[in-house]
Amino acid sequence: GMSPATPALDTLVADGFAFAFDIDGVLVRGGRAIPEAVEAMRYLNGENEYGLRIPYIFLTNGGGKTEEERCADLSGQMQIDISPAQFICGHTPMREMAERFRTVLVVGGEGEKCRQVAEGYGFRDVITPGDIIKHNSATTPFRKLTDTEFFNSRERDFGNVTIEAIFVFADSRDWAGDIQIMLDIAMSKGGRLGTLSETLDEGPPIYFSHNDVVWSAAHDNVRLGMGALRRMLEVIFKDVTKKKGVLHTHAFGKPQVSTFEFATRLLQRWRRQQHGFNAPPETVYFVGDTPESDIRGTNAYNEQSENDWYSILVKTGVYQEGTEPAYKPRVTVNNVLDAVRYGLQREM
Ligand code: G3P
Ligand code: MG
Repeated sequence: GMSPATPALDTLVADGFAFAFDIDGVLVRGGRAIPEAVEAMRYLNGENEYGLRIPYIFLTNGGGKTEEERCADLSGQMQIDISPAQFICGHTPMREMAERFRTVLVVGGEGEKCRQVAEGYGFRDVITPGDIIKHNSATTPFRKLTDTEFFNSRERDFGNVTIEAIFVFADSRDWAGDIQIMLDIAMSKGGRLGTLSETLDEGPPIYFSHNDVVWSAAHDNVRLGMGALRRMLEVIFKDVTKKKGVLHTHAFGKPQVSTFEFATRLLQRWRRQQHGFNAPPETVYFVGDTPESDIRGTNAYNEQSENDWYSILVKTGVYQEGTEPAYKPRVTVNNVLDAVRYGLQREM
């Protein structure tokens, strides 16, 4: 394939517009490429009727691996080279919180992956639910650590530890255990494990990398996502504290406008470094499958942005044909190949 890092000399690059892509339900489902996506990437890389190359970035709520690993996966699926410099996942903006909190609990993902991601972001003291279960196995009556998990989990004296924030980096692999541990910390005296607050309003803030209640994976129907875990935690917290407690939860990712601001800065750097463009594009076409995240966020950001963020909804993921999307896209097309064709035709 044609690599964005080595532009072909005989093709023109579009400077007035760019694309941004959601991943799950647009390019990939359940770890496999949506067939039209591979063709859409070729189309953007100059295999179109104008021989024009069009800059693009990726903006997913997913996560659970380093940006480098996620880009390696996506490069294989899309059959092109994709650089971390054109990629944002749900937890990427959490990097900016590493200075603010010293000791944090990191939840979600496979094995030790998310601890490694957090440490890579510069978080200084990262605890996992496994560390807490290793310290006191009575924490989660029905969840025993495997030998590998026990080996990887870190022993420490939790008597002196104050958890300053909780970060849910990726989907939980053990909802019951993770909810129990987050609840314990939310109800503690200022994040000190083993204590119980009298006022139930002094737990540390809990940050989720996104708020998608459902997402599009390999199954025909949508699957539960991190937003569903957040709802469960909130409802259970209310029940357990008899409604008097206060839980402090926040979400990153789409549809947060700050995520689109982050994407704008990334796109600006990418276009400058790859193509020498200094001026921002007039139009950014955002292609997504989830009205509540992709379309809502694009439209909201467009309201305040100087350039035009143009929302395109596809039918290959969460959105189902024949239903009324909760947030209206500028256009709805069948799939991502139709989306890139639509954008290019609109520009020419
Ligand atoms: O867990 C990932 C999912 O909720 C959404 O991913 O690529 O559709 O933003 P994406
Ligand atoms: Mg999606």
